[in-house]
Amino acid sequence: MKGTFITFEGGEGAGKTTVLHQLHDYLKTNGYKIATTREPGGIEIAEKIRSVILDPSHTNMDGRTEALLYAAARRQHLVEKVIPLIEEGYIVLCDRFIDSSLAYQGYARGLGIEEVYAINQFAITDFMPDLTLFFDVDPEIGLKRIQSNVEREQNRLDLEKMNFHENVYKGYQLLLSKFPNRITKINANQSPVNVLQDCIDVIERYFEQ
Ligand code: TMP
Repeated sequence: MKGTFITFEGGEGAGKTTVLHQLHDYLKTNGYKIATTREPGGIEIAEKIRSVILDPSHTNMDGRTEALLYAAARRQHLVEKVIPLIEEGYIVLCDRFIDSSLAYQGYARGLGIEEVYAINQFAITDFMPDLTLFFDVDPEIGLKRIQSNVEREQNRLDLEKMNFHENVYKGYQLLLSKFPNRITKINANQSPVNVLQDCIDVIERYFEQ
């Protein structure tokens, strides 16, 4: 039996990573076969690409180079980790996937959603998520959250101006209207307990279909 590929999306400080790990524990306790991973990264080659992309000193990185590196990391992660897990019947919870590239590089960097989709299609060969949870938080609140989190290492994209993060948010709104069946919006302005409960409800509803 094939597994299920669930991706978590949103701007900086939306809280998706914390909830992803809580969901992992909840679903595991409830008997699901479950794995978690992240993008860019999740396996050695992709983690190496991640450190090149996110290095704060790489201020001269061209937008297309950035988009291609994300797509390259995605390809390797998909074939080496995600697809084998799905074939073994796992529910794979993945922190970010193609929608991040569409919102960040396609829309906010201005490379074009269709153009960035095209290079990603080369990388993923139609392997799209079954379900995507979009963590909806005001970009200003999200940025404040990460700035107050001293344990979090700032990456190159965190250092972008407010305007960039507002455009990331607008990009995600476009994706919500483009993929209404796949992407579900989660109100991430609520308390963490309520956010978790909303995610559980969406996932359980998906499995009941
Ligand atoms: P993270 O902070 O959620 O670990 O993600 C790393 C950064 O990379 C974050 O700023 C979002 C960005 N990103 C993109 O711009 N495009 C992508 O395709 C992915 C996966 C992440």
